[in-house]
Amino acid sequence: MDEQRHESTLADLPHFPPGFRWGVATAAFQIEGSTDADGRGPSIWDTFSHTPGRILEGATADVAADSYRRAADDVALLAELDVTDYRFSISWTRVQPGGTGRANVPGLDYYDRLVDRLIDHGIDPLPTLFHWDLPQPLEDAGGWLLRDTAERFAEYVGLVLDRLGDRVPRWITVNEPAMMTLQGYALGTQAPGRTLMLGALPTAHHQLLAHGLAVAAIRAAGSAEVGITNNHTLAVPATDAAADQFAAAAFDLIYNRIFSDPVLSGAYPDLGGFDLEAMPGLDDGDLALIGAPLDFYGLNFYNPTRVAAASAGSEFAAAGLPFEPVEFEGVPVTGFGWPVVPSALADVLVGLQDDHGERLPPIVITENGASYPDVVRDGAVRDLERIAYLDGHIRAMRHAIELGVDVRGYFVWSLMDNFEWAEGYTQRFGLVHVDFETGQRTRKDSFDWFRALVAGRHVPA
Ligand code: FCB
Repeated sequence: MDEQRHESTLADLPHFPPGFRWGVATAAFQIEGSTDADGRGPSIWDTFSHTPGRILEGATADVAADSYRRAADDVALLAELDVTDYRFSISWTRVQPGGTGRANVPGLDYYDRLVDRLIDHGIDPLPTLFHWDLPQPLEDAGGWLLRDTAERFAEYVGLVLDRLGDRVPRWITVNEPAMMTLQGYALGTQAPGRTLMLGALPTAHHQLLAHGLAVAAIRAAGSAEVGITNNHTLAVPATDAAADQFAAAAFDLIYNRIFSDPVLSGAYPDLGGFDLEAMPGLDDGDLALIGAPLDFYGLNFYNPTRVAAASAGSEFAAAGLPFEPVEFEGVPVTGFGWPVVPSALADVLVGLQDDHGERLPPIVITENGASYPDVVRDGAVRDLERIAYLDGHIRAMRHAIELGVDVRGYFVWSLMDNFEWAEGYTQRFGLVHVDFETGQRTRKDSFDWFRALVAGRHVPA
């Protein structure tokens, strides 16, 4: 694509507020590979991905995008994009191979070098402290079902702060606790692969508690900013029928509100619809930690969800759940089959503002993006659908800003194609194409498009 075409796609948008952050995001397990290097220990995702039948095509992340060994090249790509920030995650088992005890210095060295390289290029590091790769020994002891895992997390965070706290301006505590609870512990489609259904709820509380303890540790260590990243969907009732409306509200509660309300308003929503009087595991003082004020609220958005009342005999009804996700009609879908409805992002943002008002911190979109079956032809990847997806969502975010929502940043998921969890290498989300045989990187058209966007819209503070 020629530069002029990139320039033009968002040229009609008003400028973004001064200081707006433009970045890209990745996660350690999805890109690093080198899973045995420098004393790293096994995480639940190593175990899960090496269990036959768990990952599409039997893929593992032993090599992934090989970013552990190619970090310098990947930072060069970031410098070329000229983003203001890079969101990456720190692997707990590189820092504490067994999930407890003293720091593994070579593991921390890797992130130390990464942080310095980013700063050398004028890019702010935005580390996520937990992006799903729980140390396997902690899972063996009970994982996020145990309150103690939150304490262990705080200990690990302390080790990271000791080493990187002097240079990191902003931290994200936990990524998408909802997916860990729902897919990891309730449905079993992701690590650790447990199928506890509503019995998974304590894992929600313990991850949020881990977040709260990390916020306290970061506050005690200095002046860095801190936030959490939650995944949000817009729950759209399949019809106007009362049963579907009720189902959508229940879905909204279990997917969004259980994770956002305590952080943003200091209380869990009413769980009476699930026959629960209170969140299991809740102790005095927990909500004060979990609801402590944040500098920003990280929001990941991919798609809305259409929800109907659970049909008789469905797996949802069998599990005692009142809802069942159903397909949208007449809406384009990504390679993952996810519906593309950019206006739903604006609806989510405005909804949070309406629900939490003054208490809502500035929002940063910490992930947004789409997978498509990209191919390299003549050295190029013409990913026009991805450009259209990003364009639509950035416009929707801009619209929400006009409606009064304080959004301060936007991160594309992802810098490069990577190990997409249970989907293995079948879903490509990158601005950069990765050949998983050779590790070779190829900039997609969306890379040039995003670079032009950042160049035109990046208004320094
Ligand atoms: C999010 C995850 C991220 C990536 C995208 C596609 O739920 O945080 O790691 O897999 O989905």
